[in-house]
Amino acid sequence: MNTSQAFIELVRKRTSIRKYSDQSFEAQEFKEILNLFKELETGLFGSKIRYKLISNLDEQAETRFGTYGFISGAQYYIAGAVNQNPMAFIDFGYNTEKLILALTGLNLGTCWLGGTFSRGQFAEEINLQENELLPCITPVGYATESRGLREKLIRFGAKSDTRLPFETLFLNTETNTISDDFIQMLECVRMAPSASNKQPWRLVVTDNQFGFYLKRTAGYGKFTPGNDLQQVDMGIALAHFTGAAEAFGYTFTISNGSNMEILPEMEAVAEVVLSK
Ligand SMILES: Cc1cc2nc3c(=O)[nH]c(=O)nc-3n(C[C@H](O)[C@H](O)[C@H](O)COP(=O)(O)O)c2cc1C
Repeated sequence: MNTSQAFIELVRKRTSIRKYSDQSFEAQEFKEILNLFKELETGLFGSKIRYKLISNLDEQAETRFGTYGFISGAQYYIAGAVNQNPMAFIDFGYNTEKLILALTGLNLGTCWLGGTFSRGQFAEEINLQENELLPCITPVGYATESRGLREKLIRFGAKSDTRLPFETLFLNTETNTISDDFIQMLECVRMAPSASNKQPWRLVVTDNQFGFYLKRTAGYGKFTPGNDLQQVDMGIALAHFTGAAEAFGYTFTISNGSNMEILPEMEAVAEVVLSK
């Protein structure tokens, strides 16, 4: 399989796993996870990120860490802390999705959690500092053979198996002719996970320039005050796009949204320019 097909497969393979088997990791996997943490210490826009692998194995209790019943059987969690700055949520989303895709490649299951976890417990465990944010965590481990009933209900509630139409997400692709490579790379963005599957990413494609805009879901922020999950979603979309671009043999430059065209009802987040 060539690199572009391998990346598309990885993106397709990733799915939120909420029920875990009791199979434990091998020493090699611990090593690989810790190496990934090291590789992902700095965000695209310079944020400092530190990850911690947290054991949930406690003989005294079935679950040490609270996820309000959303996750079952997880032996480990990964928490990430990022220093506060204007691009913190984007950087966190970008690096953490890179981590999640790499874990998917190791056949490990994950599930972004930005709302349904006991924040205080994880903040304590990672020793969260005053200038840091803890946007999300993920369980990590082997999936059970089939999804649990509760998991199926959560997926049904969030319509997790669907995505918005291509033309809704990629604004001027109907009128512009874009290459087959670009279509496949944009499909990788379309398959990305997002909080409550809201898919707030909108892209404006002009030749080899890709403007990433955030179209916020009305009222969404009030569920997680101070934790901008839709900016995290933007970082995730950028990770899928740049990962796909590299796999298709492109190099890219990225800049923040300050010089992007202002469009109604959307926030300019970042612009990616590709070259070959
Ligand atoms: C930033 C972010 C936060 C999320 N928070 C939660 C959460 O708190 N609880 C949960 O069960 N799922 C959470 N999810 C998972 C989404 O519901 C899931 O990604 C989406 O429904 C698409 O399903 P998929 O990941 O299987 O493709 C979150 C996803 C993202 C990207």
